[in-house]
Amino acid sequence: MAGQIPQRFIDDLLGRVDVVEVVGERVQLKKAGRNYSGLCPFHQEKTPSFTVSADKQFYHCFGCGANGNALRFLMEYDKLPFPEAVEQLAGRLGIEVPREGADDPRAQQREQKRKEGVNLLELAASFYRERLKMQEGQAAQRYLLGRGLSDDVIKTYGIGYAPAGWEALKQHLSERGIGESVQVEYGLLIHREDTGRTYDRFRDRVMFPIRDLRGRTIAFGGRVMGDDQPKYLNSPETPVFHKGRELYGLYEARQASNKLEQLVMVEGYMDVVALAQYGIHNAVATLGTATTEDHLTRLFRLVSRVVFCFDGDRAGRQAASRALETALPQMIDGREARFLFLPEGDDPDTLVRREGAEAFQDRVTCAMPLSEFLFEQAARGRDVNTVEGRERFASQVLEALNKVPEGMLKSLLLESLAQRSGLAQEQLKGLLEKRTQAAEQRALKGLVQGQAEPLGADSAPPSQSATKQAASAPSSRPISQALSPVGRIVQLLLHEPSLVAALPESLAWLPADDDALLCQELIALLKAGRYRSPQVVLAHFQGTDQGRRLNEIAQKELLLSKEYRETELIDNVNYLKAMKEKNDPKKEVDVMMQQFSALVKKQESGEKLTAEERLNFMHLLAASKR
Ligand code: UTP
Ligand code: MN
Repeated sequence: MAGQIPQRFIDDLLGRVDVVEVVGERVQLKKAGRNYSGLCPFHQEKTPSFTVSADKQFYHCFGCGANGNALRFLMEYDKLPFPEAVEQLAGRLGIEVPREGADDPRAQQREQKRKEGVNLLELAASFYRERLKMQEGQAAQRYLLGRGLSDDVIKTYGIGYAPAGWEALKQHLSERGIGESVQVEYGLLIHREDTGRTYDRFRDRVMFPIRDLRGRTIAFGGRVMGDDQPKYLNSPETPVFHKGRELYGLYEARQASNKLEQLVMVEGYMDVVALAQYGIHNAVATLGTATTEDHLTRLFRLVSRVVFCFDGDRAGRQAASRALETALPQMIDGREARFLFLPEGDDPDTLVRREGAEAFQDRVTCAMPLSEFLFEQAARGRDVNTVEGRERFASQVLEALNKVPEGMLKSLLLESLAQRSGLAQEQLKGLLEKRTQAAEQRALKGLVQGQAEPLGADSAPPSQSATKQAASAPSSRPISQALSPVGRIVQLLLHEPSLVAALPESLAWLPADDDALLCQELIALLKAGRYRSPQVVLAHFQGTDQGRRLNEIAQKELLLSKEYRETELIDNVNYLKAMKEKNDPKKEVDVMMQQFSALVKKQESGEKLTAEERLNFMHLLAASKR
């Protein structure tokens, strides 16, 4: 970690950014009197209860209680850790974030090294650019010309040339006092363990600098000019470069227009620059990896529409399916994803050269909407004229729908699915809910170290039964909000920290649940007796993943009056204890099998089964099929 960020810098920063602007880039806001209002991004709602005040530089949701300043918003909405949220805000104003940290020499040293690294990459980039212009870069010049790139595009993208020798860059950098170990760390030099030798990673290649959003070079991709392998060589992961996050061309796209509305996602460096050559400046490429969630988060932060380009062949379709899967959970209202399939054998580079910019733009404009691609995928290889085919089709779409956040798209998809499958919308909604429910129940059962379903009918978690007793509780809660027993325990403790005294001394009942660590830590804290109110507990975890989870849990309604809370807590603990003891599925299956075979034997021997035995037989049969 770099050093501390001085508080006065943060104060100053908050004085200079506008919370309305920051929120407005992510949430649709309408002016309402002196304030702005919109649908709260932190909980699901149909009528706006989320307000942003320019005067107070503060947002507040009357529905779920979320509130804070611009920094807090970025932390919550973009899920950024505090220092990165500060970096983001500062980046908007184009200012550097100062660091204190004089007290930690190691942090200082690391920060120093980071600076050195970034400088070093800049130095390397300008070295490569220079070499392209020199005598030794002539073949590379010819190569780029041959691929139809103008000097302008070469300049915009900072394309260069890495000379053929083994130590050209190493020498250049070493002369400038840069140590070899940093050069190795930032992927410019390769260090051979066996010989101890170091030499340039990139040799005799056309060099594409990869830049971050602020235009600083963070890595390189280098292409051979002949048929050698690998065709493209990329920088390895370094302290400043993470393949799964970065996108080639994003900085340049932002530079080309300050009103970007959509980005076109292509596969290669050359596709990005070729499109730019034809005046299409909004293409970006992943760096030899599949599209990740991180990529999409970044893109959707900047634009509301992303068009994915894929080859028309099988591999392309497969890549598109994967991209679809990744995109589904990101499709909140206002965002749009489309899929463009290119003719077989083409990539954007070859296509734009053959057809020209306009034709390519037309293809982008007409790209397949996500919904259509989803339906097409689900129908693929199925005969939707049969009932069975339609059912399979609907089931696959529903599975995808499960991943889509609540909102317009989901409703539209459901409506459209009803039309296409001939199933009533209500019926589909029911199925969808069942799916969510089933998924949650699976998760619940997985609580006890992924064990099988217990047979007893008494295995329902106690929360429902206990809530029913509470006079104020509605008879049913929306299933999608249900917490696991561990989550429920966390929730109860959060609302009423003093309940911790009612827990047993040992934590042996705690299963390996997602919330288990949080629960454990919370209990330890409360037992230490320092946290008497929910606010203080929340503050303790603020800014961490656990804090976010705790917030989520806190926002769910407790629906239980005070007098029942302790019983409910203990019921949940006892339930978990019982699950732990009972859930030895091997034993259970053994017992079942014994009973079953005894009954089969009895029947085969010609003896009649009693009514009770027949019933038991049916039960066992049903259970074995499950
Ligand atoms: P392609 O093999 O499709 O190359 O790789 P391309 O983009 O059409 O490049 P040209 O037109 O032959 O120059 C697509 C992307 O996959 C990654 C690179 O990011 C490349 O742009 N890749 C490919 C590698 O990282 N290494 C390789 O050896 C090949
Ligand atoms: Mn190509």
